[in-house]
Amino acid sequence: MKKEHSENRRSALKKIGVSLGAMAMSPIVLSQENTSNKNRKRLLKIAHITDIHIRPELDAPNRFRQCMREIKKHKVDFFLNGGDTIFAADYGDITRERVLEQWEIWNDLKSEFKGYEIHSCLGNHDMWWAAPDKSDAMYGKDYVVKNLNIPNRYYSFKKEGWYFLVLDSNNKNAGSLDEEQRVWLENELLNMPKGARVLVMTHYPILGVSTIPYGGNHTDSKYITKLFHKHKDKNIHCISGHMHLLDKAIYNNVNYYCNGSMSGFWWGDGDEESAGKCWYHETPPGYSIIELFDDGTLSNIYYPHSY
Ligand SMILES: [Fe+2]
Repeated sequence: MKKEHSENRRSALKKIGVSLGAMAMSPIVLSQENTSNKNRKRLLKIAHITDIHIRPELDAPNRFRQCMREIKKHKVDFFLNGGDTIFAADYGDITRERVLEQWEIWNDLKSEFKGYEIHSCLGNHDMWWAAPDKSDAMYGKDYVVKNLNIPNRYYSFKKEGWYFLVLDSNNKNAGSLDEEQRVWLENELLNMPKGARVLVMTHYPILGVSTIPYGGNHTDSKYITKLFHKHKDKNIHCISGHMHLLDKAIYNNVNYYCNGSMSGFWWGDGDEESAGKCWYHETPPGYSIIELFDDGTLSNIYYPHSY
């Protein structure tokens, strides 16, 4: 088991042409399922980046650019962005100027994704609730949807036979799905054929392990796990962020991956509880490379970055 993991790490590093010396840490293999199925064919390779928390301080924009350079070496097909794209707009004392400043940096950094699709979801820190009134163009979710160039606060798309469901966890008793979104999700799953390959992206973990000591789990996971169980004829996998921690849960044959964060300790050095510089507790900053296969399995490897 241990040996196999280090082999995986080595070959993963070799594939992207990164020498061991150049990298601070080896990748963390969260899942390499069904390796016995030698005939499975990889359909897609994607980067899951989450909790970028972009901010003007701490040279975060340049450090993000360096991360992007490294990620692109993996030759991914497209990007999934798990939310909390900006540092924070949600606190009561955030000014319009501060919100604008953060989104301007993000809009600037979009050039880093040139040639790639990026599919994002909303994070709890992305919305400006302190706008002077609800009719303000910058208030709430619509403004974030606009800045992220996404079709709606929740949406779906299909690529190479895989279904992607991007959900909005930011509702009452967050994380949760509102009634409108529940109906939509139920229909989406109903309309998929038996055996469908599905990747669900949320900001808050639908089901987590790190959420046990730290909180932050979806509060409606009973509803969602029961819904997924109704669709046990499909191959469902879930990815999330929010925690800045790395974990994996399996429940009723559905895999739930909480994929750390790009910003680690929000680009800061950390505190007395950080196990390393810029880490949040025991998780280093990083990104995930997910490979999706034709048999409904995936592999999810977390690459700590050293920027
Ligand atoms: Fe976050």
